[in-house]
Amino acid sequence: PSSPEFAELAAKPELTRADLIKLLSAKAEDEIEAVRAEAERVLLAECGNGVYLRGLVEASNACACDCLYCGIRKSNREVNRYTLSLEDILSCARQCAEMGYGSMVIQSGERADKKFIDLIEEAVRRIRIETVSEKQPEGLGITLCIGQQTKETYQRLYAAGAHRYLLRIESTNPKLFAAIHPAEQSFESRVECLKLLREVGYQVGTGVMIGLPGQTLEDLADDILFFSTLDIDMIGMGPFIPHAGTPLGDLPCPDVAERLRLAFLMIAVTRLKLRDVNIAATTALQALDPIGREKGLRFGANVIMPQMSPTEVRADYQLYPGKPCIDENAKDCQSCLNMRVEFAGRKIGLYAWGDSLHARKRQ
Ligand code: 5AD
Repeated sequence: PSSPEFAELAAKPELTRADLIKLLSAKAEDEIEAVRAEAERVLLAECGNGVYLRGLVEASNACACDCLYCGIRKSNREVNRYTLSLEDILSCARQCAEMGYGSMVIQSGERADKKFIDLIEEAVRRIRIETVSEKQPEGLGITLCIGQQTKETYQRLYAAGAHRYLLRIESTNPKLFAAIHPAEQSFESRVECLKLLREVGYQVGTGVMIGLPGQTLEDLADDILFFSTLDIDMIGMGPFIPHAGTPLGDLPCPDVAERLRLAFLMIAVTRLKLRDVNIAATTALQALDPIGREKGLRFGANVIMPQMSPTEVRADYQLYPGKPCIDENAKDCQSCLNMRVEFAGRKIGLYAWGDSLHARKRQ
């Protein structure tokens, strides 16, 4: 059953801030289903039924930041810090290419030290050369997710061959942003980085955490409007998951069911507002719900980031507790995901970079 009131609202061509808030307030099953069904319809009409995979390599958990929610924040002494070698990163990339994943994401804690940036630059350069094949004449697509850096660093890494960058704004309410970050990290500098990334030429991704202590539906609606104003190409969002080793670990936040409801609705409503962007069904959804990523796909997501990091380091990269797949290897994750995507009625797009249509229309 689908609520006619929500179905009609979800299908409106221009959604206002008030509409977004109303859609995010869907609670009854038939209301949520109406929003979900329209988001799925828009996704299939605008982007087709392909699901694009980006193999995720967690290059280092060393971090210079102290974000109040994050398990690998620099003050967390419990973390066993590691940095993958160039050879490790390249071998993950080769594995991605062999499995037919069109692109990969290199993620890490935020580090600006020269040694690390040199490592990433060299890894990007070599991956683009060494993963070239008949099926992938340009090699793997490369997305970076290594935090706030200088314009020069963004340029160097772009010149080396990376072409997409993810940098979540975490929350677009400046007060909430300030409440979850130490004073040295400013909201303005994060926004500035998103603008620099676009200037340098990257396809730009951002996103927020959903269900943060004190976050309101108005905040979440404003997050979606921010994505639209900055003309963002890719979105990655997931539920906030309190980590006991962090200052936000025991602040009151919405319960798991409520955070999941909001996270799925955020995917759907973002799809309804932004139409042709790529939206990821993130691992955090899966950490709270065993079929969270499949549901994410059904609410309008079209990207999945299968875990590719070497099994030995997976447990050391826990931004939040309950991260799935830490005992598996890349092959296990591949067959598991194939099943999950099929279960959601969709097709995996192999050997394709799977750029967001939104980015392609701009170019
Ligand atoms: N719960 C959920 N997501 C988190 N992230 C970091 N810590 C947490 C947490 N406790 C997310 C942030 C970051 C991304 C890489 O992981 O949004 O940008």
